[in-house]
Amino acid sequence: MRRANDFYPTPAALTAVLLDLVPELAGSALEPCAGDGAMADALKRSGRLTRITTNDILAGFRCTTTSDARDPSAAVWQGAADWVITNPPFTWAGEILANAWAYAGKGVAMLLRLTFLEPTVARAELLQQLAPFLSDMIIFGQPRPSFTDDRRTDSVTTAWLVWQKGWNQGARVRFAVGWAGNWRRCSEDGRQARVANPA
Ligand SMILES: C[S@@+](CC[C@H](N)C(=O)[O-])C[C@H]1O[C@@H](n2cnc3c(N)ncnc32)[C@H](O)[C@@H]1O
Repeated sequence: MRRANDFYPTPAALTAVLLDLVPELAGSALEPCAGDGAMADALKRSGRLTRITTNDILAGFRCTTTSDARDPSAAVWQGAADWVITNPPFTWAGEILANAWAYAGKGVAMLLRLTFLEPTVARAELLQQLAPFLSDMIIFGQPRPSFTDDRRTDSVTTAWLVWQKGWNQGARVRFAVGWAGNWRRCSEDGRQARVANPA
């Protein structure tokens, strides 16, 4: 059974891999589906992203705003930030991505089940419109990320998808294994480049 509002905090190591592989991520950021702040805290700790504002649909998380990120006129989308970075509820990810893209000064990074890229009638147009701006796909495996205490996993793995305004260089596709401990960053030619501990 899925949790109410898809509340699944993100392990910090997944955010650390994003920051390691996407050097453009710097400046101010909005986390529009922040929950208890697991991802926002990891962003803050990195020191790369400053002025991080947070939002969630549920009150009680001590976010900057409490509003529904599906609504383009909601409180969360007032103001400005360079980046929108989040792990949104999958069911509403398309709507939230559209709003995030309109809001962000530089781009959007979303942690999503890989099947988000499978078009549906509802999101095909958005996926197509954003395709030229897809700068990064970071696909996680071994272990497949778990978002629950009992280590259960989804039937499909999770990936970071990053879209950057003005990007026209094609997507950088990276495969992240061992990310939970000493993860192995692969170089562009497939050889192991170095071992980093993102903890
Ligand atoms: C998968 S959890 C991720 C939490 C946090 N982003 C993280 O990575 O640790 C999704 C969060 O989105 C929130 N949420 C669900 N629907 C929302 C909506 N329409 N607008 C804003 N937040 C929403 C949930 O309450 C939950 O905290």
